Amino acid sequence: MKKIVFESDVSLASFAADMVQKQIESKPDSILGLATGSTPLGLYKELIDRNLDFSKITAFNLDEYYPIQKTDDQSYAYFMKENLFKHINIRPEHCFIPNGEAKDADAECKRYDELLEAYGGVDLQILGLGENGHIGFNEPDEELVAGTHKTALTQSTIQANARFFESADQVPTAALTMGMKTIFSAKKIIVLVTGKKKHDIIHRLFEKGITTDNPASLLQLHPDVTVLVDTAAEEG
Ligand code: F6R
Repeated sequence: MKKIVFESDVSLASFAADMVQKQIESKPDSILGLATGSTPLGLYKELIDRNLDFSKITAFNLDEYYPIQKTDDQSYAYFMKENLFKHINIRPEHCFIPNGEAKDADAECKRYDELLEAYGGVDLQILGLGENGHIGFNEPDEELVAGTHKTALTQSTIQANARFFESADQVPTAALTMGMKTIFSAKKIIVLVTGKKKHDIIHRLFEKGITTDNPASLLQLHPDVTVLVDTAAEEG
């Protein structure tokens, strides 16, 4: 697992965009794994500004709140459309996100894994990092789950995401998320880590061992992970 430290979140976003651009140019029909949250916004803005050709790209998002309507402005479907998809030439039928409207969550998770497998898996996965070490919504626990699954959000994640809502009690308490195996099947992974709040977890990630209590620590086992960190997260 390689770590690169950047002076600012802007230079970090630009470097991440270089990596995505290289992937798209070397394989125009790449499968990209995408994340929501605050951290990838700089990268998405940079990708939009570069006017790249996404016409053959397919996107699979990591997760979605459950249950939630796609039109809800707190849904990740809405987030992706507003912050990336509507600004680039990706085809809407090439954009996949777990369906927060599905009646049967387990069936939806199975469908999502099968679909991703049929597409041949993710070439380049973008990840953010939870303050508690979660990736996707694989929360710290005694056991982690391999495939896409429905999960309860921890109190720490609900508090961290409350900033997007009027109050913490409006944050959904469950989500559908790619599991550890789903994430690990990506050929290449980039983890974006910015801001002071990520200081403790970034140090746990690089200085401590592998534990399900810090799901991101399992990334130490993947052969191609690059962690991009800004100085605010690195120095605290
Ligand atoms: C989002 C996701 C989460 C976030 C993480 C960090 O799709 O899967 O794991 O990446 O919660 O969120 P931010 O970037 O808002 O700090």
